[in-house]
Amino acid sequence: MNAREPVKHNPNQPRTIAIAGGKGGVGKTSVALNLALTLARQDNRVLLLDGDTDLANVSIMVGLYPRKTLANVMAGECRLEDVILETDYGLHIVPGASGVQECMDMGPTESLRILRALYNLENRYDYVITDTAAGLQAAGLHMIAATELACMVVTPDPASLTDAFSLIKVLRRRGYNRIPSILVNMAQGASQARSVFQRLDAAAQRHLGISLHYMGGIWRDETLRQSVLNQKPVALLPVSDPSCRQFHTLADMLDVRLSQLPRRKAGIAAYWHKVSKRESANPKALGKPEPQTGNETPSLKHRCLKAVDEIEAVFSEAPIDPLLRYEAFTRLFALLGSTLDSDVIEIIQTGLGAFQWENLSPERKSHLAIHLRDLADQISPPAQEPQSRELIHPVLREPFYDRISFGEQDRLVRVLKEQPADISLDQLLRSLSGNDQGRS
Ligand SMILES: Nc1ncnc2c1ncn2[C@@H]1O[C@H](COP(=O)(O)OP(=O)(O)OP(=O)(O)O)[C@@H](O)[C@H]1O
Ligand SMILES: [Mg+2]
Repeated sequence: MNAREPVKHNPNQPRTIAIAGGKGGVGKTSVALNLALTLARQDNRVLLLDGDTDLANVSIMVGLYPRKTLANVMAGECRLEDVILETDYGLHIVPGASGVQECMDMGPTESLRILRALYNLENRYDYVITDTAAGLQAAGLHMIAATELACMVVTPDPASLTDAFSLIKVLRRRGYNRIPSILVNMAQGASQARSVFQRLDAAAQRHLGISLHYMGGIWRDETLRQSVLNQKPVALLPVSDPSCRQFHTLADMLDVRLSQLPRRKAGIAAYWHKVSKRESANPKALGKPEPQTGNETPSLKHRCLKAVDEIEAVFSEAPIDPLLRYEAFTRLFALLGSTLDSDVIEIIQTGLGAFQWENLSPERKSHLAIHLRDLADQISPPAQEPQSRELIHPVLREPFYDRISFGEQDRLVRVLKEQPADISLDQLLRSLSGNDQGRS
């Protein structure tokens, strides 16, 4: 079945959500599908990317058997539009979306073709929801990092908590600094759901230094279990039905959470585009280990990452040695000052966003603010080197990729320069990392 023509073009980026969870069988696909259907039922344009590699995937749950998947698009056999399935309430599904990872192994022209199609597609929707596969594979990690909000599904089963914990830990180690939302599925009731969340949250606070966000609970529900067997999702039941109603509650919770998060300028395709550029320059990002030959000069980005690691190590010591901290920051800022491209800026945001700034004294904060302002002055507007940029990335001549590549840098420069002189460092850093509204 082909997709209907979308009603109107969305001038804004869609809200993007990944339904994730370290463990298999916790209900990720059931949640992703029912949530997507519920949002579609509420008159939103919703795209569900089926990133699950398992057989029990989204399409099967609604009784659709895709003849073509993203793999066919990648092979040049059809257009992206041709693989979209349409189901109840006009919900669109892209089967085999996990294949997007393979874009990284394609030539730049080919991967651009796919990513451009994905870019054009995602912007037609209000919500893009990705159902991810269980585990810690690079494709799954990227799918989470590509979205604004990770909703991690856990159950009262302790193994699901340890797997979710590992997933969050791996994500953070690889530079992901957003706060995941936790949804407790198969709970016996509200108090059990809350206490399951609290156990995971306590571990995250103790070992990772972050507080998680509670997205609520979905009850253990025989109707839901049967609905999977019958290929009739509970989101199709009358809204008064308790099995269906809980997904309306979840949709409300999601909207509340999204309203607390700043809208991201770049969408999923833009994220993958950035990764593919990064991987061709440096194959370390979020998955592949960087090859070390022993005698090569590490890239600037690699050195920056090492410097950020060093700062994190210094900050994790208590009490912090001021000299060590000073040296670590000086090294990082020297590196950052020499060249700033959008990847390096991302590293600044990630690295700075991860610190426990609230523990710094006002005097140290203002010291650091001076460094940051210095840094802002060193960043030149992107318009200044059009020729050399075009030589490096011929595709950047198109406005689409210009926005992707330079949007964040523009924003960063603007944000840095627009700050009033008396802004607290906390506020400054939050606005830099795009987390100024998302933290609670
Ligand atoms: N709230 C619930 N109550 C009862 N059964 C549920 C509930 N949520 C999911 N299930 C059942 O659990 C099983 C696994 O669900 P689902 O396939 O959605 O999990 P998953 O996390 O996507 O699994 P995988 O990791 O294999 O992709 C299904 O049989 C489903 O019906
Ligand atoms: Mg699944």
